[in-house]
Amino acid sequence: MEPVPIDAKKARKPFAFIYYDSEKSALTAIEASSTIKDSSFYQQVKAAEPIDSTKRKRSNASRQSQKDEYEHMVDVCSRTNLILQVQSTHVDRLKEYLSVFIPASYEKSSIAEVMKSIKVEGSMSAVTKNMSLVYVSVSDPFTLATELSQTRHQQVLSRAVKKLYIVEPESLQFDLSKKEGQQIAIAEILGKNMSQYEESSSTDESFKLHIFPPSKQKGLLSTIEEMDTDGIISKRLNPRDANNIISIVQVYQYKGKNSNVDSSALAMCGISASFTTAATKTQQNEEEEAISRAYYKLKESIERYEIENNFVKSELKGSIALDVGSAPGGWSKYLASDIECQLVHSVDPGTLTLSQNNIKHWKMKVQDAIPLIKNGIHNENDKIKVFVSDACLHSMEGQIDFLLEAQEEGILASEVFFVLTLKCTVGYGKNNFDEQAKKVVADLQKRAITKDVSTFHLFSNRSGERTIIGRLFDKNK
Ligand SMILES: C[S@@+](CC[C@H](N)C(=O)[O-])C[C@H]1O[C@@H](n2cnc3c(N)ncnc32)[C@H](O)[C@@H]1O
Repeated sequence: MEPVPIDAKKARKPFAFIYYDSEKSALTAIEASSTIKDSSFYQQVKAAEPIDSTKRKRSNASRQSQKDEYEHMVDVCSRTNLILQVQSTHVDRLKEYLSVFIPASYEKSSIAEVMKSIKVEGSMSAVTKNMSLVYVSVSDPFTLATELSQTRHQQVLSRAVKKLYIVEPESLQFDLSKKEGQQIAIAEILGKNMSQYEESSSTDESFKLHIFPPSKQKGLLSTIEEMDTDGIISKRLNPRDANNIISIVQVYQYKGKNSNVDSSALAMCGISASFTTAATKTQQNEEEEAISRAYYKLKESIERYEIENNFVKSELKGSIALDVGSAPGGWSKYLASDIECQLVHSVDPGTLTLSQNNIKHWKMKVQDAIPLIKNGIHNENDKIKVFVSDACLHSMEGQIDFLLEAQEEGILASEVFFVLTLKCTVGYGKNNFDEQAKKVVADLQKRAITKDVSTFHLFSNRSGERTIIGRLFDKNK
């Protein structure tokens, strides 16, 4: 058989790979190769570095995980129309609030259908320092954004949710840190049915920008100036009082080292009518602020309990309450004014900064106050039906001890509604704190007769705090 001629231009020259035990032997062989006269075997001999195969495997795995993460985000964004910028420590609480509390609390409202359609599609933690993004789909994002901006939600959400972005459910592959990415974002916005704004009289329409991360705002503003030559947006920017909001959000950015450029950044955009926050923060002095912070903790916990249990707070109206660790007075204020308790025994060695006819301040520790309160009990009607404690104690079980001590001393009615703050002082991490709270509840259930005990991690709780609420019954009845 005739040898097949090889087209020298097309054929790749073959290589042979040789492995030597040591670098020294390899160098000796290379040197020796230069003395061989007949070069028909090979043309060149070169040294090569062996590739660390474990490294290659690792980088393949990380490329794959980047790809998976990216594809997951494309999928999440394809359904997302509202993004919430949230303090990272509050993400789990917010997800629960949106998917459990909101749908239940709007059951009888005209927007119940919108609230029932809320679905948390995903979240991206610590996108910037301490801030995470929560991706939501809802049948009407404007209605939800407007509701969340109302005072009722702002009171509990203001520490957790920093901003809302209404976006169109599609993500675009661009990186806002690059000029090119900023140009795509602005082109996208300018391409969105802008004619309606163009035609309307110029003073009617104004825009403000909601940009995430905020560090990209400056760059995007100058890109608007450059690209929006007709001045549709640039001439109508009004950061204070605009009737439209332009949202541009970097929803995903690959954080690892060897980025695969095709799948390293995603962004979303949208234009919506303005939804403004109803809550205008009034100037408060420190004392008032301390009262109101504590006040909202009790308010939030009772509202949560109403939603999740067969309970209405009006049941407690006219009852006698005991507030342990009551200073400066937020919980006592809520019990005396909102619940309309007949009398609140408010116990704290500290100073109460409010005075009301139905609040009696016992300026001492609870262990000293219990016998004195007992002296004033002459019949069943004088007994305590609401027992709340926000006292800072050395151990979490201490709250249970005081509740059961009050019961043993005979100052509690046969059925008591209780709210206790458990402050975890050891360990860290959500699961750890949840576990500790579970143990305290199990301990209470072993020692006493209780019903409908719920444990909450409220927005008003610190990360190591849990609030437990339930009913306690007299063992002898
Ligand atoms: C976080 S503050 C309570 C805030 C309060 N719930 C409010 O609404 O303003 C905790 C209070 O527990 C009180 N405290 C700690 N140990 C106590 C005890 N054994 N008896 C009564 N109060 C106690 C402290 O004096 C402190 O004022």
